[in-house]
Amino acid sequence: MKSAAFFAALVSLLPAYVAAQAAEYGQCGGIGWSGATTCVSGTTCQVLNDYYSQCLPGAAVPTSSSSSHSSSSSSVSSASGTATSSAPGSTSSSTPTAGNPWTGYEVYLSPYYAAEIAAGAAAITDSTLAAKAASVAQIPTFTWLDSVSKIPDLGTYLSDASALGKSTGTKQLLQIVIYDLPDRDCAAKASNGEFSIADNGEANYKGYIDQIVAQIKQFPDVRVVAVIEPDSLANLVTNLSVQKCANAQTTYLACVNYALIQLASVGVYMYMDAGHAGWLGWPANLTPAAQLFAQVYSNAGKSSFIKGLATNVANYNALVAASPDPITQGNPNYDESLYINALAPALQSQGFPATFIVDQGRSGQQNLRQQWGDWCNIKGAGYGTRPTTNTGSSLIDSIVWVKPGGECDGTSNSSSPRYDSTCSLSDALQPAPEAGTWFQAYFETLVSAANPPL
Ligand SMILES: *[C@@H]1O[C@H](CO)[C@@H](O)[C@H](O)[C@H]1NC(C)=O
Ligand SMILES: *[C@@H]1O[C@H](CO)[C@@H](O)[C@H](O)[C@H]1NC(C)=O
Repeated sequence: MKSAAFFAALVSLLPAYVAAQAAEYGQCGGIGWSGATTCVSGTTCQVLNDYYSQCLPGAAVPTSSSSSHSSSSSSVSSASGTATSSAPGSTSSSTPTAGNPWTGYEVYLSPYYAAEIAAGAAAITDSTLAAKAASVAQIPTFTWLDSVSKIPDLGTYLSDASALGKSTGTKQLLQIVIYDLPDRDCAAKASNGEFSIADNGEANYKGYIDQIVAQIKQFPDVRVVAVIEPDSLANLVTNLSVQKCANAQTTYLACVNYALIQLASVGVYMYMDAGHAGWLGWPANLTPAAQLFAQVYSNAGKSSFIKGLATNVANYNALVAASPDPITQGNPNYDESLYINALAPALQSQGFPATFIVDQGRSGQQNLRQQWGDWCNIKGAGYGTRPTTNTGSSLIDSIVWVKPGGECDGTSNSSSPRYDSTCSLSDALQPAPEAGTWFQAYFETLVSAANPPL
């Protein structure tokens, strides 16, 4: 389904990152780095930390460094030439943990979500329900960095998580969503972002990523796991007939490439968003999806920090459905488990040994929707399976709650600039406030319909 021109465009993104020599102030090494490891004349590759070596002006200075620096020096030399190596097994000692990123870590609880939950629970008069509601504050979700203004919160959480890890002796893992592409949400309207391609969007996006990287770099003891850009690549698989998506294609690819490379440079474990069973899980979409994700992975240097894909983000599908919802008729991959089992081999055959995470935050109740594509504030939804690495599948690293349940998917106010008619369908709870803001009535249903119960 993709044209040769499309892949030519993809491949054209590659040379900048496999140049023989890195530019002055460019990256030249570090854990997960597979780009150039030598520097342009007049500069020397110097190890700044385990994750980042940089081409600095002048000759090499002997580092007065710790053992971690020397281990990373060796990674720089052993990494040379890996840009063209594709064997997933040929990893050096500098590569990240091969296994599950959650292993050995405790997930940091977002204070922001905990505060939303506390306020939401306090507004419930039924004391039994209020107590169940309050307990949700202990369940980890992801922090959505959906605008530059959220980045200072990341710094606060990292610092807090670092201190917590030191005081408790249990290392902390912080879960974030990278979500600020220019012309974001190209096939819908509810989550339009702050950047536009026509107005310097790509440069602004790179600035957004740079600021996130600068924060993360300061706290190497906190592990960070990121979901990369919900819906964006899936829209490039199926929605290029939408003008805004066609216009955004090149920019999305360049921006996602930048995010993957920069976040890998500071040791962030990443899962690219891959829609859900009812989107890319249709048999006709599996191969084009696998080709795109594998190409994006390859263009980003096949870093081992790019663990794989996130599915069902902010959606409602079951991981394993007791029986197919009638709306899934015609798709043999009617739940996330079937979708993942179908997609993984296609990815592997394209050279991407991906593992998965699956959002089950709002998947507690099934058979609620009129149509599978309905995504906005679905009536009757309940909190789902709690986050766990005990997933029953070696392909699935963790069940997660990516969407903080209780935050709105989109407004039902037809006068709002971000109004999407999906949010006024008969299966969407109304009236609904703007995307991302607290939706108390929805939260109360999630609590009372939680499965397993709270
Ligand atoms: C985007 O693609 C999905 C999956 O094919 C489709 O259901 C949806 O209608 C498309 N959206 C638009 C706005 O065309
Ligand atoms: C709906 O949106 C319009 C335009 O933003 C706003 O003026 C109006 O107050 C909103 N109505 C409600 C009920 O929120």
